[in-house]
Amino acid sequence: MDVVVAPPDELALIAADAVTALVARRPDAVLGLATGSTPLGLYDELARRVADGRLSLARAHAFLLDEYLGLPAGHPESYGEVICRELVDRVDLVRERVHVPDAHADDVDAACARYEAAIVAAGGIDLQILGVGTNGHIAFNERGCALDSRTHVESLTAQTRVDNSRFFGDDVDAVPTRALTQGLGTILDSRHAVLLATGERKAEAVAELVDGSMNRDWPVTALRQHPNVTVLIDDAAASRLRDADRYRAGLLR
Ligand code: GLP
Repeated sequence: MDVVVAPPDELALIAADAVTALVARRPDAVLGLATGSTPLGLYDELARRVADGRLSLARAHAFLLDEYLGLPAGHPESYGEVICRELVDRVDLVRERVHVPDAHADDVDAACARYEAAIVAAGGIDLQILGVGTNGHIAFNERGCALDSRTHVESLTAQTRVDNSRFFGDDVDAVPTRALTQGLGTILDSRHAVLLATGERKAEAVAELVDGSMNRDWPVTALRQHPNVTVLIDDAAASRLRDADRYRAGLLR
């Protein structure tokens, strides 16, 4: 596990460098995309690089991590809409190659299986961008989720719904109770996982990941199993790490 402690704008640059290097090597790379506030700096930077010709995502593929269940099609806070607004429409990704779990399918379980098959057909995810919830969820894998889980329907914890209510006018009742999400197994299959976390509210989850052991109360700790994971955190998110100073100085990775 590679742990980098740096200011948020630098973290965005480091993550953007990883995307840029991958796409330079493999223009038709498969990206795994996350929603939430944390990757927005990265998406801004990708948009800048595409605008000034340093990066093209024209041949890339993308798979979104998760999608709410129960929102009307086109709802501005559905993750399919959010990722278009925050990234897809600002870069040269081709919409047909941007995949979102189908929360409007008649049979959502079948839609989950199709999503897994589509990831495999695309050759697997080369670089998976991840955020983390305050309670340690990744994508929408909540506590108790199995390590080998694949794309599935998950019911959201009260904490996650409270945290995400800021996107729904602070009305927790407006936050869906369920979502479709890539499983921990799906995420662990990615070739490189880049987790971004900023702010003190993420410090406990980050400490569980970096200093703790794998446990089902903190789904993020599944990444301890991942052979190639980069953890990009700011000072506040690193504040509960045993060795924050050494990570900060680049002495520990
Ligand atoms: C949501 C998403 C996660 C994201 C998390 C943290 O619940 N399903 O993929 O990592 O929020 O979001 P934020 O970056 O806004 O703190």
